[in-house]
Amino acid sequence: MSRLVIVSNRVAVPGENRAGGLAVGLLAALKERGGLWFGWSGKSVREASGALHEQRDGDIQYVTMDLAKRDVDGYYNGFANRTLWPLLHFRLDLVDYDRGTRETYHRVNALFADKLAPLLREDDIVWIHDYHLIPLGAMLRERGIGCRIGFFLHIPMPSADLLQAMPDHLRLFSALYAYDLVGFQTQRDADRFQTYLRLFGGGRVLDNGNLEAPGGRHFRAAAFPIGIDTELIARQASTAASKAAVKNLRSSLRDRQLAIGVDRLDYSKGLPERFLGFERYLQRHPDQRGSLTYLQIAPVSRGDVTEYRQLRSQLEQIAGHINGGHAEPDWTPLRYVNQNFTHATLTGFYRAAAVGLVTPLRDGMNLVAKEYVASQDPEDPGVLVLSLLAGAADELKQALLVNPHDLDGVADAIATAATMSLRKRQERWHAMMEHLRTYDINHWRRSYLEALEG
Ligand code: G6P
Repeated sequence: MSRLVIVSNRVAVPGENRAGGLAVGLLAALKERGGLWFGWSGKSVREASGALHEQRDGDIQYVTMDLAKRDVDGYYNGFANRTLWPLLHFRLDLVDYDRGTRETYHRVNALFADKLAPLLREDDIVWIHDYHLIPLGAMLRERGIGCRIGFFLHIPMPSADLLQAMPDHLRLFSALYAYDLVGFQTQRDADRFQTYLRLFGGGRVLDNGNLEAPGGRHFRAAAFPIGIDTELIARQASTAASKAAVKNLRSSLRDRQLAIGVDRLDYSKGLPERFLGFERYLQRHPDQRGSLTYLQIAPVSRGDVTEYRQLRSQLEQIAGHINGGHAEPDWTPLRYVNQNFTHATLTGFYRAAAVGLVTPLRDGMNLVAKEYVASQDPEDPGVLVLSLLAGAADELKQALLVNPHDLDGVADAIATAATMSLRKRQERWHAMMEHLRTYDINHWRRSYLEALEG
């Protein structure tokens, strides 16, 4: 078996909280084959020396590099998170396009290529992750790397018309032609990329489904919906009940039900709409008043980016408004928490919640939706309220699917979820859980790597 090389902006180095679904799956792949995980150290320094940090854990080698602060600003805070993130989440209104940050993004990708190329062997198999590193494969090719290189986009691929709105879009997206396999979360993402290739990219779809780039290079694009470590999460959730944080949460509820949301504080997650949907629930269902508490955990994310800071103050304002208008001396309807928790504790929180609220305005997949389901008690499972605009909705069909822009619909789904009979809850949960067991994180990485190896 060839050595596996994984490249991503963030690297789950030993000693960090690595229990997140993706890290678990990629580490399992690296353990099986032995390999290298390469990426940014997460540190921004005044002057980057270009030196690499190396760590080893059994057969896995981790190599990371620091970036200069001005490079982090242009590449990560700038082009990746103020241009590509909103564009790929269908938010043209939030796209900030700047030639300077675009050049820094390409320059940092070239720096990754310069540092990585000498570490590669001829028969390696290289797997590059996410929107931070789209041009990296092409840049490795320019440096003479001929091994198989795959790319996986964890976030949505929007329609060709939206991509067209980004100046110089072809320079970036045609870099995808250098890969052997481009993976997307859903079939719809893969289809939209094919349409882009045909309409603006000068390429074509061949009879066997493969793609041909202008110039004649053949490559594949397909959907590989990411899964979770279903069994591990189910186990964690049942043992997490003994954790102090989980016990405290349960006892603080008294006899009230819990609805839970867990999201990075990001505008793609639809948090203002969700808060307002919850307020609408309080207004439309006075019979349920006081019977359910909503806990929203939203760790601050990308706090150096303006739009994220604005969202934070907007949420503080709406949360205050809702509690001011609806709280009782002994009941706070909305608990809004920016603190982060370990993955294991979160599974305990999910299990304590009768309702899981996952209502992004756009999401590549959304693993919280899957983790919420996997964490439930089979004897008394909660109900997932899920946005039909998340990739996960293509798989979790037995969730209560809502349009996150329809506040009345969200409000009524919360009420339905909170009062659903045990039999119906179990039926829905079993169907989803069976799917999650079959299509878990190991299925995802195996099917992707098999397709890449060809
Ligand atoms: C999304 C992206 C990942 C990213 C994560 C956290 O899930 O697809 O690539 O790592 O968000 O965002 P951050 O900016 O903190 O890495």
